[in-house]
Amino acid sequence: MSQTPSPAPAPAAAADTIAFIGGGNMAASLIGGLVAAGHPAASIRVSEPDADRAAALQARFGLVIATDNAAAVGGADIIVLATKPQQVADAIRGLALSVDATLISICAGVRIASLRALIGTGGWSGAIVRAMPNTPALFGAGITGLHASEGAAPRARMQAETVLKAAGQVCWVDTEQLMDAVTAVSGSGPAYFFLLTEAMAEAGVALGLTPADAKALALQTFIGAAKMAEGTGTDVATLRAQVTSKGGTTQAALESLEAAGFRRILGDALQAADRRGAQLGDELAATI
Ligand SMILES: NC(=O)c1ccc[n+]([C@@H]2O[C@H](COP(=O)([O-])OP(=O)(O)OC[C@H]3O[C@@H](n4cnc5c(N)ncnc54)[C@H](OP(=O)(O)O)[C@@H]3O)[C@@H](O)[C@H]2O)c1
Repeated sequence: MSQTPSPAPAPAAAADTIAFIGGGNMAASLIGGLVAAGHPAASIRVSEPDADRAAALQARFGLVIATDNAAAVGGADIIVLATKPQQVADAIRGLALSVDATLISICAGVRIASLRALIGTGGWSGAIVRAMPNTPALFGAGITGLHASEGAAPRARMQAETVLKAAGQVCWVDTEQLMDAVTAVSGSGPAYFFLLTEAMAEAGVALGLTPADAKALALQTFIGAAKMAEGTGTDVATLRAQVTSKGGTTQAALESLEAAGFRRILGDALQAADRRGAQLGDELAATI
């Protein structure tokens, strides 16, 4: 797995025409990032069945609203598939893509083989890149796991990076199966953080703090610790050791967590998410 940090948005591939199929939450955050990075709105097209949502996107970004999916993808260099997984088959079946267009799918669990089967080969020989962003992408602070189809050209990888770096950092994985692991770690990860914050605030209330104080203390502690880990660049295990004085309060708490099997509990949770990701992929493949 290789990670590409992106403190600043990637320079946009200004010559590329990008067509979004589906203009929902994730598409809007990617489009916002692309426009902020200097990609001309006139070379971004969106096909979105909800007329109000389409109009809002046009008003916000000045992009092109396509009449339908076929019009959106016609002549486009990059197609970003951004519907719900269950809507994919209706959205792309039999679409005519430009011969070397790159298809980027952000749809959870939808496999490369299913996407190829739906589009068909008729004249199209471009690469497919699967992408798994996470919800902090909505604030430009996401991280996206990426996997490219076999034989994908460097150009296709660069195109995928350009689009996904609009939402934060990217991280390439070598096998499609590892996309389930990415989903387990970073796709579902924000929910683990929210649960941890919730549990820590509840524990603070049990110790006598007001709910508002406990919530503020817990949340800002995690935000500050994350900034510290990022800012110092020091390994998190070292940072943990540095704040754990021998015989102190932190050591008492960490020993209690380790004794209760904290790492095993988290490991089991991620295994469950990974298994569920594979199952969802199987279920979707069976319907295509
Ligand atoms: N949100 C996240 O945090 C997140 C994280 C990782 C991956 N993803 C993936 O990102 C994808 C999009 O998620 P989202 O949260 O952005 O969903 P969303 O807000 O529901 O956006 C999907 C959009 O696609 C439209 N659509 C439906 N059928 C279509 C069709 N045939 N042609 C063109 N557009 C169509 C939908 O319109 P209607 O509403 O009218 O149906 C909707 O506006 C999902 O596959 C999800 O797995 C999301």
